[in-house]
Amino acid sequence: MLVLLDQTRLPAEEVELVCTDVPALVAAIQSLAVRGAPLLGIAGAYGVALAAARGFDVADAAEQLAHARPTAVNLAYGVRRVEEAYKAAMARSGNGSQRAAAQALAEARALHREDAEASARLSEYGNELLGELVPGGGLRLLTHCNTGVLVSGGQGTALGVVRAVHQAGELRKLWVDETRPLLQGARLTAYEAAREGMPYSVLSDNAAGSLFAEGEVDAVLVGADRIAADGAVANKVGTYPLAVLARHHEVPFVVVAPVTTVDLTTERGSDIEVEQRPGHEVTEIPPVHRTGGGPETGGGIPLAPVGAQAYNPAFDVTPPDLVTAIVTDRGVISPVTADTVAELCSTSRKG
Ligand code: MRU
Repeated sequence: MLVLLDQTRLPAEEVELVCTDVPALVAAIQSLAVRGAPLLGIAGAYGVALAAARGFDVADAAEQLAHARPTAVNLAYGVRRVEEAYKAAMARSGNGSQRAAAQALAEARALHREDAEASARLSEYGNELLGELVPGGGLRLLTHCNTGVLVSGGQGTALGVVRAVHQAGELRKLWVDETRPLLQGARLTAYEAAREGMPYSVLSDNAAGSLFAEGEVDAVLVGADRIAADGAVANKVGTYPLAVLARHHEVPFVVVAPVTTVDLTTERGSDIEVEQRPGHEVTEIPPVHRTGGGPETGGGIPLAPVGAQAYNPAFDVTPPDLVTAIVTDRGVISPVTADTVAELCSTSRKG
């Protein structure tokens, strides 16, 4: 079985979600109980290992999992990597499915460990880069969505860098976009920031403009769900307007993601499939859970007239010329162009 922390219950409750089969994991992915690009890769990888261990049809399981959500490339990457390991082991051991299942689990664990190692390098390189981009310390950083330990095998991507800055004593303020409509910033990033003792404030997404205008932001740090070959970055909806604001106010806009988030088979940003989510996520207050088994509050409270149509893309795409730098576990690219992305992907890791 696969045991997940149900992120839809945070920050009120830390509740485990147990998946004993693939449909349950697909449902957990689609309901965002488990979410965020690197973690989706890890969950998908373990999902294939679960299917192998339980004697389910592994090819079918891999297909279901890889397509559970379309935008984060890490999901398909994790799924296909473990599926390939399983198939290779099956071919080697002449259909010895127990051995192949063990091999699938070993591959999922390797991917999990590699993600943790990658996130440690992201934190180190990102912290160094900020020192160069904004000398003098005492940083005021703005972030969007959730990119910390909740979405990673280690410290995370953008929020991992924030944590490194904080641990170095250089974080003056973390500005946390609430991240409408599902509030991953307010619910999850603020939860992690509070646990780490960071100085943080949550803001509504549309307050970011006045924050920039007041000169309160030294750099923007965000994660990514897919980076196209031209360097365009798909990330949680609301990222692109931040990049535009950052450019207008001459503030560095930095993307932090493992190389596994780069998808060279997607040529341009406009080719990235952006997931469209149900309109009720916009037109209703999302459910809030309370500790102690008390009544749930807020679930399905309408914000708009019954039957209102909604536009609810889960992601947007930021063109490469608005991105100051991409920090990866193989090093930093700046400027971000098709050439620098290709060069990054052809090199082994920095150092
Ligand atoms: O909650 P999701 O899965 O819809 O959001 C994805 C993300 O977590 C973000 O876009 C994030 O910034 C990139 S993943 C570290």
